[in-house]
Amino acid sequence: QAARRRALFGAAVPVALAALLAAAAPGTAGTPGTPGAPGAGDPYFPLAGNGGYDVRHYDLTLRYDTAVRHLDGTAVLTARATQPLSRFDLDLKGLKVTGVRVDGAPAAFRRNGQELVVTPRTVLRPGRDFRVTVAYGGTPKPVTDPDGSPDGWIPTDDGAFVAGEPQGAMTWFPANNHPTDKASYDFTLTVPAGRTAVANGVLLGRRTAHGRTTFHWRQREPMAAYLATATIGTFHIRQYTTRDGIRVYDAVDPREARTAAPVLKKLPSVLEWESRLFGPYPFRSAGSIVDHAPDVGYALETQGRPLYDSAPDVGTLVHENAHQWFGDFVSPTRWQDIWLNEGFATYAEWLYREQHGGDSAQKTFDALYARPASDPLWAFPPGDPGSGAHLFDTPVYARGAMTLHELRRAVGDRVFPRILRAWATAHRHGHGTTAQFTALAERESGKDLNRLFTTWLYAQGKPNRV
Ligand code: ARG
Ligand code: ZN
Repeated sequence: QAARRRALFGAAVPVALAALLAAAAPGTAGTPGTPGAPGAGDPYFPLAGNGGYDVRHYDLTLRYDTAVRHLDGTAVLTARATQPLSRFDLDLKGLKVTGVRVDGAPAAFRRNGQELVVTPRTVLRPGRDFRVTVAYGGTPKPVTDPDGSPDGWIPTDDGAFVAGEPQGAMTWFPANNHPTDKASYDFTLTVPAGRTAVANGVLLGRRTAHGRTTFHWRQREPMAAYLATATIGTFHIRQYTTRDGIRVYDAVDPREARTAAPVLKKLPSVLEWESRLFGPYPFRSAGSIVDHAPDVGYALETQGRPLYDSAPDVGTLVHENAHQWFGDFVSPTRWQDIWLNEGFATYAEWLYREQHGGDSAQKTFDALYARPASDPLWAFPPGDPGSGAHLFDTPVYARGAMTLHELRRAVGDRVFPRILRAWATAHRHGHGTTAQFTALAERESGKDLNRLFTTWLYAQGKPNRV
């Protein structure tokens, strides 16, 4: 950038004068700027996220007609430029954009695959907030992930199951769609009366008029786009506050209610148990969205309120809520680091079972370790799934959890939970890498864990016992 400026003004112009000229004409066409990158630089999903700015807040106003599956939306993003920005991308797949404004002024835009390319009238200055308004609409469709699963806005018989890991956020709102850019959110969701729209955070209000109900949700704590939801259905609602002051909101499809009830009842005790182990619950809201979505095939740890495609069992409840610390509070810096989510949430299930009258974690480990070398469990090491096609395969979950079990055996039962809590605290409301985790584990334990992690996270094939 300095070189660029020197070239423009020439060596004869004193630096102070150059600065004066730049300050006198903030963000005019004469200020040099560069386009933001079309991706955040994640090798597994090169176009996910964008460069040149950080989003601070998303204000999403959406109206969904469940009968014809039509969505109308206005997204207002408050963002901060991180470079002099002549042009920038948002991620948006499908839907029709009808207008884009930057700081109130109409901006030029074009679509290029999943990139919405916006050219503001003036160069945006680094460190300054700007506001992008995108008006859009259409029939949202899920994206098919490299592993073949549907992701994003997934229509159901009475609404939509809305989950975005790893890429689906862009199917329903324009986003900087990468976990390294977290923001707060407001959701104003209008659906036919009788249906409920459930997003993240706290329900601030609802009102019904002219046969439609509008729900206003606010997620104050920073959230990655993939953890956002706006799930719509015919739900039974239950609201209460836990002893720790956490606001719980449960939305349950009546077809799942009988099976779900005894499991959801355990949420306060599960969160208390997890808080003792992992540190204070990171958000002010909690709960469960239990949908009836037979075509989905997975649950997601949507922030502050996991989303289930059918009534969960206790293990799944423990798993998705453990993700509130490992995945949501601390997100992966790159998708390759996914075992930091799935290995941890899976090990939380093992620990819960061990401490609630079930098999010990050692027994669970031993049963997995007994599997022959040809078993899919050993297909690849959890620290290196190789591509986005294997993010949610068995090695990431089970061998990821086995890695943590080996860590626990190496450092002992006193130090192990200290490592988990230190990890959550060190990257609170942010993100972290595998290298940062292994370094932290060595610091907390004072042990050289290089061989353990190299073997369990990165060695091909069934590891020999360390
Ligand atoms: N993170 C989810 C879990 O709790 C799994 C999400 C799977 N997503 C997908 N697109 N296949 O394990
Ligand atoms: Zn998981």
